[in-house]
Amino acid sequence: MSTDTDILRRRVIQAGVATGVMAAASRAFAAAAAKPLAPVLKTIPSTGEKIPAVGVGTNAYGTEDPAELKRVLTAMPGLGGAVIDTARGYGESEVVIGRLLAEIGNRDRFFLATKTPLAGSVAGGTAVLDESFRRLQVSKIDLLQIHNLNGVNDLYPHFREYKSAGKIRYMGITTSQDGQYDGLIDAVTKNKFDFLQVDYSIGNRSAADKVLPLAQEKGMGVLINVPFGGRGRTMFPRVAGKTVPEWVTQELDITSWAQFFLKYIISHTAVTATIPGTTTVAYLEDNQQGGHGRLPNAAQRKKMEEFWDALPG
Ligand SMILES: NC(=O)c1ccc[n+]([C@@H]2O[C@H](COP(=O)([O-])OP(=O)(O)OC[C@H]3O[C@@H](n4cnc5c(N)ncnc54)[C@H](OP(=O)(O)O)[C@@H]3O)[C@@H](O)[C@H]2O)c1
Repeated sequence: MSTDTDILRRRVIQAGVATGVMAAASRAFAAAAAKPLAPVLKTIPSTGEKIPAVGVGTNAYGTEDPAELKRVLTAMPGLGGAVIDTARGYGESEVVIGRLLAEIGNRDRFFLATKTPLAGSVAGGTAVLDESFRRLQVSKIDLLQIHNLNGVNDLYPHFREYKSAGKIRYMGITTSQDGQYDGLIDAVTKNKFDFLQVDYSIGNRSAADKVLPLAQEKGMGVLINVPFGGRGRTMFPRVAGKTVPEWVTQELDITSWAQFFLKYIISHTAVTATIPGTTTVAYLEDNQQGGHGRLPNAAQRKKMEEFWDALPG
């Protein structure tokens, strides 16, 4: 009986392809032939619970093909992922996720994170929180976050109340803009959140100056958004046509640019998990591999930064 590895080997040989493609294929073959890579699990500081370091972001789930999204959410737990990040502000994303998880019947395999409204008044009591439970069709939310600092003073008492009642497991607050870092620091200094969520990537490292060290000092978990630079403005064009450096494949089990970007992020000691926007099974498989195997140490992270900084554009 042929194994997947045999089939892959045969395909590589039969293809008789050009040298560059052959090198990439033999790296893929080596990865497939190797024993399964261990998942990277990170600890949530406030409880000690461990979660997988690569999840999915869903700001496009209101508009993408629901059949493919269903395949993504069906396959994800088996590939080692658990964190889903959504928000009231992402159109129908919460509703689509709620419906798909109910249809698949695998809600208990996920760490489900959502956010209160991105803009407008949130002064209407707990109704604004209840809406997420209704849209997601769940009785418990793993992580409820205040989106872009909107309404911290109004929402914080209700977050505490819902956490005490066991309706939410963790409380968080988010931004994805440098201009809000001071406000974020102020909010997490005055209040007790379990998590903050912030933008951080190899192409945008400013959160590492103050925000990530503060989270570590305060014992907060950290979710990283826009790990590829953000939907519609990703870092992939800068590496178009280039293969990942040989040393990252050999030393860090990295076989794609997505994995290069993700492993840079999750190897930061303050980071708990990252949530790449993932709307297809092909992206899911690639991104989940970025949450498995060896992570760069400090010297290797520096080498990745130097490589990135030297790229044109
Ligand atoms: N303030 C906040 O709280 C805040 C703000 C922004 C985002 N977020 C969260 O962060 C999540 C991630 O942000 P994002 O989706 O805007 O940006 P992102 O994760 O940086 O980039 C997502 C894009 O990367 C491409 N991609 C994904 N996997 C890939 C792969 N393996 N190989 C090549 N390309 C790949 C896709 O682009 P194509 O479809 O064009 O191929 C996708 O649209 C959001 O979904 C949301 O959950 C939170």
